[in-house]
Amino acid sequence: MKYYILFGPPGAGKGTQAGAMAEKFNLRHISTGELLRGEIAAGTPLGLKAKALIDDGNLVPDEVVEGMIEDKFNTVTGVDGFLLDGFPRTEAQAVVLDEILGRRGEALSGVISIMIPDSMVMDRIRHRAEIEGRADDARDEVIRHRIETYHSKTEPLIAFYKSSGRYTEVDGTGTVEEVRERIFSIMK
Ligand code: AP5
Ligand code: MG
Repeated sequence: MKYYILFGPPGAGKGTQAGAMAEKFNLRHISTGELLRGEIAAGTPLGLKAKALIDDGNLVPDEVVEGMIEDKFNTVTGVDGFLLDGFPRTEAQAVVLDEILGRRGEALSGVISIMIPDSMVMDRIRHRAEIEGRADDARDEVIRHRIETYHSKTEPLIAFYKSSGRYTEVDGTGTVEEVRERIFSIMK
């Protein structure tokens, strides 16, 4: 099985690119953000707890998302692998992902990191707010806090994965199609 991480700051285009990648390589796209928004929409106890954290732009506890990922690995069938979007985003999650893969006798296939400048993050998310109505897109201060959280807690993973030799950066500026072609040329 293939296990890819789609990495990058909020608004980089992870969700936008994931569909075409998953289709082309027969991967299951797993977005922890989307799974959490599903729990919120369904009004589950987990969703109720996660909502306040997400709406303020904070991360949910590591154990919550780690459990979601392992559950998907255990239950999803009929694919050649997984495309992780928004996970891991702390060093603790990265270590647990390695442990989960180790228990399965598997290893990470690659980390594809979509890079855009912070100024573009703001523009893209403000634009998405008008279309999708995500609660965590509604206020500039929350978007700024998500960017800060990315820099403090998630960006350190770049060094973690660079040392594994399976880390590749993609320029996330330009059109959706241009970014997609850059990603496909790496995955081939
Ligand atoms: P999550 O849903 O993962 O949000 P995020 O990381 O902030 O990323 P986004 O979904 O905002 O960005 P994206 O890269 O998918 O961009 P998109 O493709 O939509 O997480 C939400 C929250 O859940 C977190 O804050 C946290 O609370 C919690 N959470 C999730 N995972 C967690 C974890 N592992 N641990 C703890 N907590 C966790 O693109 C953005 C916009 O730009 C769209 O409008 C799109 O159309 C547009 N766009 C994309 N590409 C282009 C382009 N090339 N040109 C022009 N526009 C473009
Ligand atoms: Mg997304």
